[in-house]
Amino acid sequence: MIKILVNKKIIEYNELNNIVNKFKHIYVDLGTGNGKFIYDLAKNNPDKLYIGVEPTASNLYDYSKKVSKNKIENLIFIITSIENMGDELNGLADKVYINFPWGSLLEATVKDMPVLLNKISRLGKVDAEFIFIFAYNNIHEPVEIEKRQLPELSSNYLLSELKEIYKKANLSILSCTNLEPHEIKNFGTLWAKKLFLGKSRDVYRIISKKININT
Ligand SMILES: C[S@@+](CC[C@H](N)C(=O)[O-])C[C@H]1O[C@@H](n2cnc3c(N)ncnc32)[C@H](O)[C@@H]1O
Repeated sequence: MIKILVNKKIIEYNELNNIVNKFKHIYVDLGTGNGKFIYDLAKNNPDKLYIGVEPTASNLYDYSKKVSKNKIENLIFIITSIENMGDELNGLADKVYINFPWGSLLEATVKDMPVLLNKISRLGKVDAEFIFIFAYNNIHEPVEIEKRQLPELSSNYLLSELKEIYKKANLSILSCTNLEPHEIKNFGTLWAKKLFLGKSRDVYRIISKKININT
């Protein structure tokens, strides 16, 4: 069952509508981990609604307590995987973030997984921005690459094959760049620190835009 956490309280989906309707702009972070990234955004932008989606409820323990303690009214956590996500958030997001995904969320980001990528794409309004940040390579993640059959992240793959894969899900890739070390540091999240501690490695950022399918 999908659970929605608002100020440490679990609410029903129909109550979600009441919250969503209060905000003009909605930002979604998929695979939010401990929620720090989306918490910081929510705290600094009280006029926008932020939604963190995370399948492992225990990851959210500290930041859901902080939401309640600091009376953050514009952040909710939805406890679900993208596979189990319903269609309640479809067409609502102005921006969707996926930061340092793993598992099937990473596969949906870099492989031809139309069902999952379409689920992600459907969250956005027309022209919504989707930002995917990810990193893996043969030196640091050989087992994961083998297990999940992850493609080599060559510029040819990213700029031509992946571009076509995203297009099928109505996402137009606008740019694919390598993040600078200071940009990674700025995330300040556990995973940005864990994955990059003492390592020099390529970290990719894809910025894409939801295409209007009627034009
Ligand atoms: C490496 S952590 C990154 C967490 C966070 N985005 C950050 O930057 O700190 C990857 C996260 O993706 C989540 N995840 C993995 N598969 C997922 C899926 N299918 N749907 C949603 N989240 C998923 C995991 O539970 C985990 O919290």
